[in-house]
Amino acid sequence: MNVTRDIASTRAALAAARQAGRPIALVPTMGALHAGHRSLIEAARRDAGCVVVSIFVNPTQFGPRDDYVRYPHDESGDLKQCEEAGVDLVFFPPVEAMYEKDAVTKVNVGRLTETLCGPFRPGHFDGVTTVVNTLFNIVQPDVAYFGQKDAQQLAIIKRMVRDLRMPVRIVACPTVREPDGLAISSRNENLSDAQRRQAASLYGALCDAGDRIRGGERDAAVVTREMQRIITEAGPARVDYISVVDPETMQPVANVAAPVLVALAVHIGATRLIDNLRVDPGVRSP
Ligand code: PAJ
Repeated sequence: MNVTRDIASTRAALAAARQAGRPIALVPTMGALHAGHRSLIEAARRDAGCVVVSIFVNPTQFGPRDDYVRYPHDESGDLKQCEEAGVDLVFFPPVEAMYEKDAVTKVNVGRLTETLCGPFRPGHFDGVTTVVNTLFNIVQPDVAYFGQKDAQQLAIIKRMVRDLRMPVRIVACPTVREPDGLAISSRNENLSDAQRRQAASLYGALCDAGDRIRGGERDAAVVTREMQRIITEAGPARVDYISVVDPETMQPVANVAAPVLVALAVHIGATRLIDNLRVDPGVRSP
């Protein structure tokens, strides 16, 4: 496995694969790799290209109150996992390789960044799209893999690629969960045992929403009210949002008439957790 830390050697390492006609598959990550990341790498492996994992804790997507300085780092553990997963190249750049000191350019995906997490994390999605754009320019992948766990991020990246005519195919991978349904995240490590048990209520609430919608409920307000009840009954929690949105535009839906994304962001203690479920209302039996 190759490890590169600057642009020139990354491009040089990929030139051979490109010349051999092997499609280049990129899995962008911020490291502290877990089963969710591994599922993306496995999907890339299955597509039998040259698999590149980028590991970069991107400062521009963290707000002033966010946990950039406390974000977990595990370089040797991450490299070991990549090696075991059959990754061809790990791109592990320092900040200077990714950003000019006086960089001012940002990519903004408009309305899609203004709902759900947008208002709670100003500038976050601009940081994500800008860094993903930079990674795409350095690696020039044919295909890139993203998790449905971060559904808004995925929708925004798909829209950026579509709007800017970027020559890369985006593959969405399903959310990997713990046995009790909690979506795997490096933030789960910050939960106490009691909070960890409580956190299962998030997936419980999403499943309840799915059952209700498939059972014929069309009023999004009824669905989200019930979710709120399930989550707050499980223990003290601060809800940023519980929403039913269009899965492509991320705009709120009042009456469910087509597949929707049910999404939430909830603080349990000091830990902010996000999760979502795509629900198809199906055809209601008469
Ligand atoms: P990070 O949080 O490290 O996540 C990297 C990728 O792993 C994302 O596409 C995310 O959706 C996916 N992922 C995380 N947890 C998952 C789970 N439980 N199941 C399936 N996929 C999961 O997301 C980022 O990094 C950054 O914003 C990045 C795109 C790298 C830009 O900096």
